[in-house]
Amino acid sequence: MPRHKGKFITFEGVEGSGKTTQARLLGEYLSSLRIPVVVTREPGGTDIGEQIRQILLDSDNRGMTPETEILLYAASRAQHIRERIIPALDSGRWVICDRYSDATIAYQGYGRGLDLGLIAELNRLVSLELEPDLTILLDLDVQEGLKRARKRGEGGNLREGRFEEEGVAFHQRVREGYQELERRYPERIKTISAEGSIEEVNRRVIEIVSVLLKS
Ligand code: TMP
Repeated sequence: MPRHKGKFITFEGVEGSGKTTQARLLGEYLSSLRIPVVVTREPGGTDIGEQIRQILLDSDNRGMTPETEILLYAASRAQHIRERIIPALDSGRWVICDRYSDATIAYQGYGRGLDLGLIAELNRLVSLELEPDLTILLDLDVQEGLKRARKRGEGGNLREGRFEEEGVAFHQRVREGYQELERRYPERIKTISAEGSIEEVNRRVIEIVSVLLKS
């Protein structure tokens, strides 16, 4: 993996696990330590990526095939890495990304059943072998997460609900996929419980990130 000046941290987890809030809070924490930081997300993170995000998450796009879906995620990531993530890391900034390649393995691999070998190839092609220094996996009971996510949807962006409409069994496979990834990459992926208050989870996140701060 190429070395960069900044550190690359990703957040992963099932729907409603609080990644977006925790990514933002970690960004604020690092900024308070005067570490230059970029908080971004996938799909999205660039103008092109945000347009792709709309297509991917629009509940009206129920007819999207798994193959179309994975290629759109890959397209968003290809743009994001080259336009935003690598330039930021090269200039010494830390990058915190709300989802990354592990999500493709968990959702399109374990969730949709696409071939894991093919996904690994695609990820390699797209990601320029850029791997996170640390991945924080927020683990939560799937039913609880969906309840939280649907509540948020009612008050917010209803058009981003395509995955929230999937059944519990789909999300259970995604959760198991993430757990399998953690077993495979225990050095990189650290699981923490997403139960409890935002502040409690934030403390768990900071505890894990402090190890990186010392390295
Ligand atoms: P989020 O903003 O709630 O994380 O929405 C992104 C959705 O896209 C979420 O349901 C997970 C899904 N996703 C994939 O299926 N594959 C991917 O590679 C990524 C990055 C996200």
